[in-house]
Formats: sequence, structure tokens, C-alpha cells
Amino acid sequence: MSISEADAANRLMRLAKEIARHNRLYHDRDAPEITDADYDALVRENAAIETVFPHLVRADSPSRAVGAAPSSPLAKVAHARPMLSLENAFSGEEVAEFIARVRRFLSLAPQEPVALTAEPKIDGLSCSLRYEDGALVLAATRGDGAIGEDVTPNARTIADIPQRIAGAPALIEVRGEVYMAKADFAALNQRQAESGGKIFANPRNAAAGSLRQKDASITAARPLRFLAHGWGELSEPLGHTQGSAMARLAGFGFPVSNLLRMVGSVEEALAQYAAIEQARADLPFDIDGVVYKVDRLDWQERLGQVARAPRWGLAHKFPAERAETTLEAIDIQVGRTGKLTPVGRLTPVGVGGVMVANVTLHNRDEIARLGLRVGDRVRIQRAGDVIPQVVENLTRDEPRAAYSFPDHCPECASEAVAEEGEVDVRCTGGLICPAQRIERLKHFVSRAAMDIEGLGEKTIVEFAELDWLHAPADIFRLNTHRSDLLGREGWKEKSVDNLLAAIDAKREPEPARFLFGLGIRHVGIVTAKDLLRCFGTIERLREVAIGDNAQGELSSVEGVGPVVAEALVDFFHEPHNRAALDDLLSEVRPQPFQSQAQQTEWSGKTIVFTGSLETMSRDEAKAQAERLGARAAGSVSAKTDLVVAGPGAGSKLKKAAELGIRVINEAEWAQIVAEA
Ligand code: IVH
Repeated sequence: MSISEADAANRLMRLAKEIARHNRLYHDRDAPEITDADYDALVRENAAIETVFPHLVRADSPSRAVGAAPSSPLAKVAHARPMLSLENAFSGEEVAEFIARVRRFLSLAPQEPVALTAEPKIDGLSCSLRYEDGALVLAATRGDGAIGEDVTPNARTIADIPQRIAGAPALIEVRGEVYMAKADFAALNQRQAESGGKIFANPRNAAAGSLRQKDASITAARPLRFLAHGWGELSEPLGHTQGSAMARLAGFGFPVSNLLRMVGSVEEALAQYAAIEQARADLPFDIDGVVYKVDRLDWQERLGQVARAPRWGLAHKFPAERAETTLEAIDIQVGRTGKLTPVGRLTPVGVGGVMVANVTLHNRDEIARLGLRVGDRVRIQRAGDVIPQVVENLTRDEPRAAYSFPDHCPECASEAVAEEGEVDVRCTGGLICPAQRIERLKHFVSRAAMDIEGLGEKTIVEFAELDWLHAPADIFRLNTHRSDLLGREGWKEKSVDNLLAAIDAKREPEPARFLFGLGIRHVGIVTAKDLLRCFGTIERLREVAIGDNAQGELSSVEGVGPVVAEALVDFFHEPHNRAALDDLLSEVRPQPFQSQAQQTEWSGKTIVFTGSLETMSRDEAKAQAERLGARAAGSVSAKTDLVVAGPGAGSKLKKAAELGIRVINEAEWAQIVAEA
């Protein structure tokens, strides 16, 4: 690449801003201005320059971003009742299994029928409408299910949503889907094209973009519709069954689906699914499946929910939409924890109304399973909101060399390895890998590690952007930028001096915190202590880790297993990491390791805490055990010497009894600690 360093830095700055703007347009405003392919070209140009000038990678580089951060200007509102999602099914067997599960859960007699409602699953965005004494007082989007966005003024502009309702409970939240009809969507895009406005990718994006507007007059000009499918908080029940409750919602003036039917068996459920699928193309709006709900509300109550979906409901999705195209390239993205993710770049192709140019290829094994190589024809599929993926390689029999997954990180050229039994390949560059830099630096200065006051994420990002921070050692050289820093907005003499003093105060760190701060995989603070208790210094630990019998020696350390041993070997094996550590050790001098443990009758013993502890946190209990020279372990085994059990202790207590291990309660433990 013939581009000067200064031009490269300049171009990277512009690309970061431009790509961020397109991300916002796409994710926050549902209004992409460029095609996926053009967007991709920008991202690739950015990556190409970064490969040639790795030291110029910006803190805000698009190669490091994980999608766009939500930056909605709408106010947040907590839902009175969480807005749940639904479990998905893709086959008749899964529907049968759902009904069987309901029967088992309720212990129903074989002859007892389970009635369900079946209705279309609308492809829109869910909205909760709160009415108090008949008046609409709040409309909120689903958000993360617990907290949504206040779209009350916007919802008031939707004709399907009544402002006032009569005959309803004093408090009622009606939930349903805001959507845009297919014809209205096409007409809107046509108008937008004529006026040079934004073009929406599909009706769902158009509905979301139209509802989530700060200025409700924009929403008012968009043809949004609403269809009720349930409810949230209620001051009194709507009825005994889902069907009758839905009929009441219709009576209050809410649109409900005219395809809602009662079904009494798996066969009837699947027949209604087939009927709705048949009607799909002629429906005025997009649907992506059929939703079944247990009709009896007392049963719904008993069934409750698992995680974020009710046990009484199921979304039976239509098969995913598929298309064929060519795999043009396989790019590797490096995540913040160093994970290498392959991304397939495709000749853009329409799949179910959306242009797809990228697919996730998941990991190395997935590429091998599909036998994928650049140039292959592939069948891809897109199901609902799921990221498109390759389902089949159509030219795998063509004789061409297999794709070889990189064994070095494309960001920093460090070795990339997969741990035994793991499919993910990770960059071992840790401290020097730009993709991991900010996260690593954040970890290094965090409370549990070096605990450098005043050096938070914002400051780290600021300094990294200024190119002052690459590796942890640079933190201790920030004093060389004192005068530059004083010239920057938000920095005064006092704040600069405080920060530099806080950094200086950590020049002789406690060694376990220092080791933990290096961010070696699987090395938490307890493991760091175990290692130092055995090896005394980090220098000695490093010698062992690069020695001949590293794996054996390391995994023989009390509390360290083969997984940690391998992570240590990988880390210290990498010259970049050794150099970064040397650099760091030229700035700081860790104190000698002092086991805080006292010599007590518990020295060397293993203690397990189980059940809920009432006077202390689990971390504190662990620390107490360590002070007595004991180890706190997570599970009970023959090696356990003592179990401290609080209320609610379960299987660990049982196991301790089986193994004849001494069990005491929290008060007895407190006494041991006090007397030691
Ligand atoms: S019932 C507790 N019924 O699908 C479950 N949801 O995948 C509440 N959806 O978040 C939802 N049509 O936004 C239900 N007829 C329908 C639906 C429907 C579309 C959406 C809804 C929900 C998502 C779950």
C-alpha cells in the first residue's frame, strides 16, 4: 500500500467517523444511506490500512466496534411487568413436544384436552400501551424486556390505538405489535425516493424507525398500524381464557387478528399453521410464523416462565428464507477478548426482501464442516432477526485447496491458538493486540487489579486515541505527556497531578494484583495468588512457563489445572507478551509476594462454602479462608476438609455427608475465624 503514515492516520480518522455515522443510520435510525456492499468497502479499506499501520489503529476504530451503541434520544421507562419473548419451534415435532411439556408440567390426565389459541406472528415491534381510568397514559417499546423507550406521543398518532377506552379495568396494559402494511411500506419508500429521503430495508425497519422518533410529527406522517396480542399489568383479570380476554380487547376497540382460532390438538394446531402459511402472501402485512398460547389463564399462571419466555406460549416459525450466492472472501475479525471470528463476504443477494452481503461463519470448525473456500457457491439462509448464515456449500466437490484458518492474529500478528477441546481460536497477543488493547488496559487498571484511581474507560480511550497508550507500561510514562494533557479540555493542573500521583502510587504493586492485571486467560486473582505462593515472583513464573516441563510444573501447583497451565504457557510463549511484560517491569517493581495467610490448623486445608451466607459475601468468606492459610474451593470432593453451609445448601451438603466431611454453620465458622 503506497500511502504515507500521515495520510493513513488521516484516512483512518475519516473512516472511523464515516463508518460510525453509517452504523448510527442503520442501527439507530433504521435509515441506511448506502448499500451493504458500499458499507463493506469502507470497512475493508479501514482494515487494509490498519493491517499496514497496526500502530495507527484508533481506539474508536470500526474494526473494534461490536455493532452500534444504542444512542437513542428517547426516555427510558421500566415495564411494570416484563415484556417477554417466545420460544421458537421450526417443526411439527417441536409443537407436539411443546404440548406434551405443558401436559407434563400440569400433570394433566391423558383424556384432558389442552386448548390453545393460534394466531399469526406479526413481524413488527412490540409495544405496551398503559391505560389508567380509560385514558392512554404511556406507550413503551419492548427494549430489553425490562426497560423500554417512552413513545407515548408517537403512539398517540396511530389511528389503530385508541386514546380512550370504555368498560376496561381501571388499570390495563394492552400489548401488541406496531407494524407497517406491505403496500404502505412500498408507497412510503417510493415517496422517500422521490424526495431524496431514506429508503427502508423492510416494513419492520420502517415501522421501528417511524415509531422511535423524537419528533412525533414524523411518526404521524407514517402509516403505522397496531394489532393487540396480549396484556401486561391489570387491575382485574380480563377473563378466564386467552380467547375470551382477546375478545374483550377487541371490544375495547383494539384490532386483534381475524385469523385467531382455537385449536384442541397438535393436528389442529398444525392445520391452522398450514392455513395461515397459505394465507401469508395475501395478508396485507408481513408475518413470520404462528403463535400458540395455552387458552386457560389459570394454567398460564401455573406454567409461569423460564428465563425470558413463558412456558405457555410458542412461536412456530415459517421456514427460513434461503438464497444462493458466491463466497467472495473470508475475513477474520478479532473481538475484544481476542476471539478470531470468520466473516464471509458475499456477492450481495436478496433474501426474503433484505440484501445480504455478509454472513457469520462462526468458527474454524464450521468452515471445515462446510468445506468452505473463497469462490464457492453457497446457499445462505436468514431466519427472522438471526444473522444470516451459510447452510450448504454447493461446490464443495470442486477440486480446490481447503481454506486454511489463520494461525496468526490479523491485527497484531501474534500466534492464534485454540485451547484443547475449544472451537474458538484466540489471539495470544493480549497486551499488544490493538483489537484487545482498550479492554486489556481497562482490566489492568481496574479495582481488583492495579486499582489506579481516576483512570477510567473514558480516559483510557482518550489517551489511546492520542496514541499515548498502547500497552500497560505506557500508563507509567503518561507523565511525559503532562504539558500536552494540561492543554486539553477537561484537564486542570489539579486533575492531571492527581492522576499522575495515583499512577506513581502503584509503582510497587502487590504482585498478585499485578499478575491478575496482565489479563492472562483463566488467571483470576485467586489463581494469581496460588501461582505466586508457589513461585514467589513473576520472573520465576515466567521462567517456568517457558521451560521444558512447563505444563507439568504449572499444573502441579495447588489450585492450578491443565487449562490454566496451558493459558500461561501460551501467554509467556508469545514474544510480544514477554516484551510487554519486560517493558512494564522496567517501570514498576512488584513487591515480594507475602502470603497473607497465618499459620493455623487450617493451613493447606480446603474449605467449601455453600448455601446463602448471611453475615458476609462469598468473596469475604473466601478471603477469610485464605487468611487462615486455607483454600476456598467451589465444589466438594474427597479433598475437601470442611464445608461451611448456610440456608438453602443442596447437593454440596449431600455430597459432604456422603463423603463424611465435617459440616459447620456460618456462626461456627465465624468463631473459627475469630479465634485464629
Ligand atoms: S405473544 C409473552 N403474540 O413476537 C409473549 N407475540 O418472539 C408475548 N409477536 O415479543 C408475545 N406476533 O413482539 C405474541 N401474535 C403474537 C405476536 C407476538 C408478534 C412478537 C412479540 C414478541 C415476539 C416474540
